[in-house]
Amino acid sequence: MRTVYVNGEYLLENEAKVSIFDRGFLMADGVYEVTSVLDGKLIDFAGHAKRLERSLNALDMPHPAVLPDLLGVHRELVRLNAVEEGMIYLQITRGAPDDRDFVFPDPETTMPTVVLFTQNKPDLANSPAAKKGIKVISIKDQRWARRDIKTVQLLFPSMGKMMAKAAGVDDAWMVEDGAVTEGTSNNAYIVKDNTIITRHLGSEILHGITRAAVLRFAKEAQMKVEERCFTIAEAQAADEAFITSASTFVMPVVEIDGEAIGVGEPGAVVTRLREIYLEESRKAAV
Ligand code: PDD
Repeated sequence: MRTVYVNGEYLLENEAKVSIFDRGFLMADGVYEVTSVLDGKLIDFAGHAKRLERSLNALDMPHPAVLPDLLGVHRELVRLNAVEEGMIYLQITRGAPDDRDFVFPDPETTMPTVVLFTQNKPDLANSPAAKKGIKVISIKDQRWARRDIKTVQLLFPSMGKMMAKAAGVDDAWMVEDGAVTEGTSNNAYIVKDNTIITRHLGSEILHGITRAAVLRFAKEAQMKVEERCFTIAEAQAADEAFITSASTFVMPVVEIDGEAIGVGEPGAVVTRLREIYLEESRKAAV
């Protein structure tokens, strides 16, 4: 059984409790981060910590006083649960006032709720899916407009995964005004004539921590990068396609809406980027 963290305490998962009035539960009024663990160490921790502050600020939530040492809590959970490879999930909500109310509670009296737990995934780096690539469908992006804030309102992404499952594929890429925004829980990329193309940052997508690292490594390796919109038709005519996230790292996409991408197998660029990402991130892990 896992040991989890709730509001300053380390507890067994079946002893951890949150109020029924918690605004995360009633209103999806909360933010989260997922940080991967390789070799028992945290990948891109500083990036996740920075984005967490950005999400909290965007929603006028104070940084929780019970969490002065974010890195220390992450490390302690990795240690207590002996995680070699996997993820740490962190969620902070606006807390539990004593009744349901649309108006934000006073932050002086209602403390945020902080929950962290680990997920063991022994095959995270050595993923079988990364060897053969995944298939996606395109769906209309019907999420709210502030996707740059990492909130826990994941109902539409969850519905997207179900649509993908019903279509017999692995994931969905969301499309808005004719252009791909991102995957249900990852950023989306195509490669054409050795140029890596991915949507530019804005409120339409989450500013992926893996995205930032991968683009930096690509530029360092003298690969060309273009941050701009692209369509599903352009993606289907691309040489390669892939996604990035803390839980998939760099993952090849070999089919979009039934059309094979390139030869329908992971290409040279994505394969190289995954290798570079894993190697560099392991070196910089804390
Ligand atoms: N998802 N876009 C969306 C909509 C996401 O939910 C995620 C991450 C990303 C990639 O961000 P990063 O590289 O920082 O993980 C892009 C996490 C993994 C999740 O919800 O489980």
